[in-house]
Amino acid sequence: MKYGTRTGNSAKARTQCAIVGVYENGQLSPSARVLDKASKGYLRKILKREDISGKTHQTLLLHDVPNVGAKRVLLVGLGNEKSMTSAKYADIARTVIRKIKATSSRTNLCCLLEVDVPDRSIGWKTQKIIESFEAGLYSFTKMKGKPPVNTDSIESVDLLLDDKSERETILSAIAVGSALTAGISSAKTLGNLPGNICTPTYLADQAKQLANDYSSITTKVIEEKEIEKLGMGAFMSVTRGSVQPGKLIVITYKGGKAKEAPHVLVGKGITFDTGGISLKPVAGMQDMIWDMCGAASVFGTMVAIAEQGLAMNVVGVIAAAENMPSGNASRPGDIVKTMSGQTVEILNTDAEGRLVLCDALTYIDQFNPKTVIDVATLTGACVIALGRHASAMYANDDGVAADLTKAGEDSLDRVWRMPLWEDYQAQINSTFADIANSGGREAGSITAACFLSRFTKKYRWAHLDVAGTAFKGSGPSKGSTGRPVSLLFEYLNNLAA
Ligand code: BES
Ligand code: MN
Ligand code: ZN
Repeated sequence: MKYGTRTGNSAKARTQCAIVGVYENGQLSPSARVLDKASKGYLRKILKREDISGKTHQTLLLHDVPNVGAKRVLLVGLGNEKSMTSAKYADIARTVIRKIKATSSRTNLCCLLEVDVPDRSIGWKTQKIIESFEAGLYSFTKMKGKPPVNTDSIESVDLLLDDKSERETILSAIAVGSALTAGISSAKTLGNLPGNICTPTYLADQAKQLANDYSSITTKVIEEKEIEKLGMGAFMSVTRGSVQPGKLIVITYKGGKAKEAPHVLVGKGITFDTGGISLKPVAGMQDMIWDMCGAASVFGTMVAIAEQGLAMNVVGVIAAAENMPSGNASRPGDIVKTMSGQTVEILNTDAEGRLVLCDALTYIDQFNPKTVIDVATLTGACVIALGRHASAMYANDDGVAADLTKAGEDSLDRVWRMPLWEDYQAQINSTFADIANSGGREAGSITAACFLSRFTKKYRWAHLDVAGTAFKGSGPSKGSTGRPVSLLFEYLNNLAA
């Protein structure tokens, strides 16, 4: 999809569809007023018929509005002018793209930048429109036998601006938004690919391809033999049960000064989680194709910053393995030694995410990271606690927590901070080993974070449990959400600024 800008009279624009807002109670947005004037009151006349009242998400498609250059006019409800919010604005953009897709409008003029959103700049609005439109246009069809004919015919969207001086700002917001959506789409697709295709080897190959695509990226893949040599007994205890070899994938992005310490992202990349010997029940097991969504979000964020050319150094690490039951698999009760030297008693082989992550989190010490964020579909308990709206955030540093919270508010990819109090640590004490890999049912997301906290003492760190936010399981709208790529991208961009 091509995005551009346009200035001038919206009534004169030759386009197949002009998108304009109307507020509740028939109040017109500035562009709607222009169209109404050109058409000698046609819009107001239609609004009087009350086919559309201006409530958010209402739409009305008009054809051949008199004296208007656009073939179609899509009226979209903006709700009450005084109660516009950031989230509503993004929602409205999603409604718009759904409607436009249903027409055969190749060229479009979007007159929604003029809509006031409290505390939001025109650059923010531009980025949100692109993010929402691209999300609406994304579909996962790679696994269909015959590639479906592309039915949506949208070629371009021009954003109307009132002032030529805004052009540069908007063009650069379009570039940033496009970089971000490239990252989100790649995260979604990696997430949606099934376990038989998206194996640890597949993830490693994709990461190597990134290094071919971007000169700013280098990729190193650490194979099991070396993983073993590095002393990563916890990682090995998970991957050993699978015929698919596990991989530790290190993606290095250099956008800053050569010697500058990087920010590090670490993703859980369990390409399928059966639970291992502590086998999961049948119902819902198919959802575990998404147990590598943390890794996919790290990958997607690397794509986005490379596409954008962000001026900082970032290392993305993916701990990729498959959790299978087999004769080689770990047994409940096994005790393994982690790279940190601490030993872990594996009480439940289904608590495998923390086992691959703890060794990856030790491995990255060598980068002397400025901050470390790990992302994981770590616990079912997280979904019970927060549902699907916010990712759970844990941090050993208030500054990192504040930065992520702010990035979440601005990107609308929100996090909610959870406690990492000492009180919870006792739940994962082990009699025989140093740590137990399960703290039982109570506070499951918190005790998982407590486990990771024992491996992250050397740097400023946050953990994101995205079990509820990274994908939607079952139903026709099932699939990866691409979260938290927007959050991470915003976080890194704010730090670079
Ligand atoms: N991948 C799962 C967590 C999960 C569950 C993610 C549902 C997304 C949706 C994780 O490996 C797991 O199985 N966690 C266990 C931990 C328990 C055994 C301590 C859980 O949440 O039940
Ligand atoms: Mn599991
Ligand atoms: Zn898992």
